Amino acid sequence: MATPKSIPSCIITIDGPAGTGKSTVARSLAERLGLDCLDTGALYRAVSLLSLEQDVPPDDGPALSALAQTVELRFDWSDDPPSLWVDERNVSSRIRDLDVSSRVSDVASQPELRAILDAEQRRIAEDHPRLVTEGRDQGSVVFPDADVRFFLDADEAVRAQRRADQMANRGDVVDEAAIRSDIRNRDKVDRSRAAAPLVQPAGSIRIDSTHLTIEEVVERMVDLVHEQISGIGGSS
Ligand code: DC
Repeated sequence: MATPKSIPSCIITIDGPAGTGKSTVARSLAERLGLDCLDTGALYRAVSLLSLEQDVPPDDGPALSALAQTVELRFDWSDDPPSLWVDERNVSSRIRDLDVSSRVSDVASQPELRAILDAEQRRIAEDHPRLVTEGRDQGSVVFPDADVRFFLDADEAVRAQRRADQMANRGDVVDEAAIRSDIRNRDKVDRSRAAAPLVQPAGSIRIDSTHLTIEEVVERMVDLVHEQISGIGGSS
């Protein structure tokens, strides 16, 4: 049977709304299958951070794309998970703060910026052709021909609780009402924006994780990937 370890390239996409556990699931799936893992939301968060620091309005697409082009956005793949650097600064932790989170949906709605970051994601996939990549548009726009495309979903209350637990684990102050409202707002903007709205890509596999643990989701995905990849390889 063809397995991901034996093939030179294998792209698996995971899309879905905020708080579904995409990042954790993607990292774990990548580890199980021996693939690299790309967190595309981190790129939008980094530009969102820069826009905060440099007073660029989050809805000014041309200015945001100019901003993204004045810096080097680079993952350090020797870290686990890969850290994200803006020029010489490691922003991996700072980009998770609530001030960055609250403006990132507006930033990510700008088509000019999306075009630049789409190209960057495809370039990264050329360097890392065995990849699990997660975001909002990976299976719908950036990698529509990916080998396996997942759409991970969960009820809003469960997603808010997971995000709160994640922040508490990091030692952050947790304001549950603010987190829930942030998730609700981001869902609304992500799903209704004109540029690459969050949708379940046609032909993708939907997994509802409301009543599943991360481990159960990953287990299910591993099984599905093995089924799909062996099908592609034409062997059983
Ligand atoms: O997954 P995340 O919460 O780190 O994503 C941050 C924001 O970026 C979120 O509002 C959606 C947006 N995003 C996007 O529009 N497209 C992607 N491929 C990844 C994230």
